Amino acid sequence: MDTDVIIETTNLTKRYGHQTAVDSLTFQVNEGEVFGFLGPNGAGKTTTLLMLLGLSRSSEGNAKVCGLEPERNAREVKRMVGYLPENVGFYEDLNAVQSLEYIANLNGLNGDQIRDKILDALKEVGLSDDLEKKVGVYSRGMKQRLGIAEVLIKDPKVMFLDEPTLGLDPDGASKMIDLIQALNRDRNITVLLSSHHLQQVQKISNRVGIMIRGKMVAEGTIDALAKEKFGVGEKVYTLEEIYLKYFQEV
Ligand SMILES: Nc1ncnc2c1ncn2[C@@H]1O[C@H](COP(=O)(O)OP(=O)(O)OP(=O)(O)O)[C@@H](O)[C@H]1O
Ligand SMILES: [Mg+2]
Repeated sequence: MDTDVIIETTNLTKRYGHQTAVDSLTFQVNEGEVFGFLGPNGAGKTTTLLMLLGLSRSSEGNAKVCGLEPERNAREVKRMVGYLPENVGFYEDLNAVQSLEYIANLNGLNGDQIRDKILDALKEVGLSDDLEKKVGVYSRGMKQRLGIAEVLIKDPKVMFLDEPTLGLDPDGASKMIDLIQALNRDRNITVLLSSHHLQQVQKISNRVGIMIRGKMVAEGTIDALAKEKFGVGEKVYTLEEIYLKYFQEV
């Protein structure tokens, strides 16, 4: 695996009034990996992603994404990073192609090739049979897939996925995870994956970070974290067991 660092934060901090949502966070994601970004509700994961995108200003500390500081180069970072937010939103009256054309236009992606790119992206996420439907009647899973297609038309180097399997049925969630894995492998897109579905995270992550109350309390491969918490032994621990152990001991 390539070990060039593509995302890094140093003492990144975000305060809202007296509350510190992200507390001196330092971590790294290597190029080409799927990094599982874990933590309980309110830990500060989404806030961190917003700072990494340049959509929210840090109170202290630094971040670098693809070698750029998001606060100074928000536009360039946005061009290289695809973001699937917690709640994907589309205009309900547009169909899938129209939705992506609209978004491509907003992002300054025009020209003859864009329509082909949109159709390719929709095929890649498995929506080719649903192009005529208005997005308003899309199921949750279809909207999530459309969100991924939106990310793909940028040809991103990095994807930030905030709970991509939230609300999906088990089969839909599993397919979404397989899709993310395929995009990582075939397009060499680095993935920062925030999720509470630890089994799925375990399946596709090279390394994980566990964030609790704004701090990264663990970072590494699942094996390394298991050793740190449970020592060396025969038993293979699940990510859920490891996560709960960290959580209980903070
Ligand atoms: N705009 C805001 N103004 C004030 N407080 C905020 C704001 N955004 C987030 N917070 C607070 O910051 C903390 C971290 O929230 P954040 O959304 O980053 O958590 P999260 O780890 O993404 O949680 P979840 O797993 O539930 O999505 C929470 O206490 C939240 O209430
Ligand atoms: Mg969140």
